[in-house]
Amino acid sequence: MSVIILAIESSCDDTSAAIIKDGVVLSNCVANQEVHKLYGGVVPEVASRAHQENIIPVVEMALKKANIQKEELSAVAFTRGPGLIGSLIVGVSFSKAFAMSLGIPMIEVNHMQAHVLAHFAEDPKPSFPFLCLTVSGGHTQIVLVKDHLNMKVLGQTIDDAAGEAFDKTGKLLGLDYPAGPLIDKMAKNGTAKFDFPEPQVQGINFSFSGLKTAILYFLKREIKENPAFITENIEDICASVQDRIVTILMKKLRKAARQSGIKEIAIAGGVSANSGLRNTLKEWGEKEGWNTYIPSFQYCTDNAGMIGVTGYYKFLNNDFTSHDAVPVARYQI
Ligand code: KG4
Ligand code: ZN
Repeated sequence: MSVIILAIESSCDDTSAAIIKDGVVLSNCVANQEVHKLYGGVVPEVASRAHQENIIPVVEMALKKANIQKEELSAVAFTRGPGLIGSLIVGVSFSKAFAMSLGIPMIEVNHMQAHVLAHFAEDPKPSFPFLCLTVSGGHTQIVLVKDHLNMKVLGQTIDDAAGEAFDKTGKLLGLDYPAGPLIDKMAKNGTAKFDFPEPQVQGINFSFSGLKTAILYFLKREIKENPAFITENIEDICASVQDRIVTILMKKLRKAARQSGIKEIAIAGGVSANSGLRNTLKEWGEKEGWNTYIPSFQYCTDNAGMIGVTGYYKFLNNDFTSHDAVPVARYQI
């Protein structure tokens, strides 16, 4: 009999539902919350209210697109964490009610593990063991993936995440939230001619808070000389910032690959949509003899498809969650 899973993702500011049949994503619907642009960042209370409004229509759309009736479902997979507690509560409560009313099991999913397993939603799939650089708005990690459900974090950020570095720099430049995609777009027409410092962090950990401060002081200095500095140089500033963030990420990834001897190398998470990172991974990968894996755009940023794929592997493992599960804001892999 087929395994058909409804997956729910509500950890931050995207409400998403997906249907996965025998590990294949049939539908993957996302409602983005444009409202946070007004505030220059995600406002947790506003996010959870928007999740409440969006969740039922998004689930209905996912079922309809997949042409699946809810009575056919085998289980509900949901993001238990990490994420914003108020946002997680909406997805967790909805999943409980839905699973209970249908009398089907629930499967909790770790959002960061799901970003990694997004690679199993499409071809080509990496083979085990592989390394995954998971870069999002809240996390920056290098993960050793031994099996679908057996992962170890080898290194991570000691302060800001890579996505935060993009978003906070964007704020300094007067760009809307989330600034990552806007910086990416403008960087395409610019030259990386401004030199920002590379943090000296031990091992394969990362740090991005110093970069943000360096950019702030650089802008202050330049604006004193020329008040129109940002508008006149926005494309070159974006190219320089992006170039620095990408080299910080790639140098640590290369270090982890050389240390472990692993040549199966993947990237995941919202920042893996960045064209500079995608191109550099390919370039360096050729030099290092890596097989590289880059998700298609729909599987980079938050989506329930990746939650459902993870849920599928847990289903096969009989790894179910009791109906009294609560969300966990800081949930380790
Ligand atoms: O994985 P994600 O959708 O949500 C979290 O789990 O955090 O990642 C969102 C992050 C934001 O910081 C956003 O600016 C960044 O991913 N992002 C990008 C790009 N697209 C999204 N950063 C750089 N370049 C992009 N093209
Ligand atoms: Zn995410």
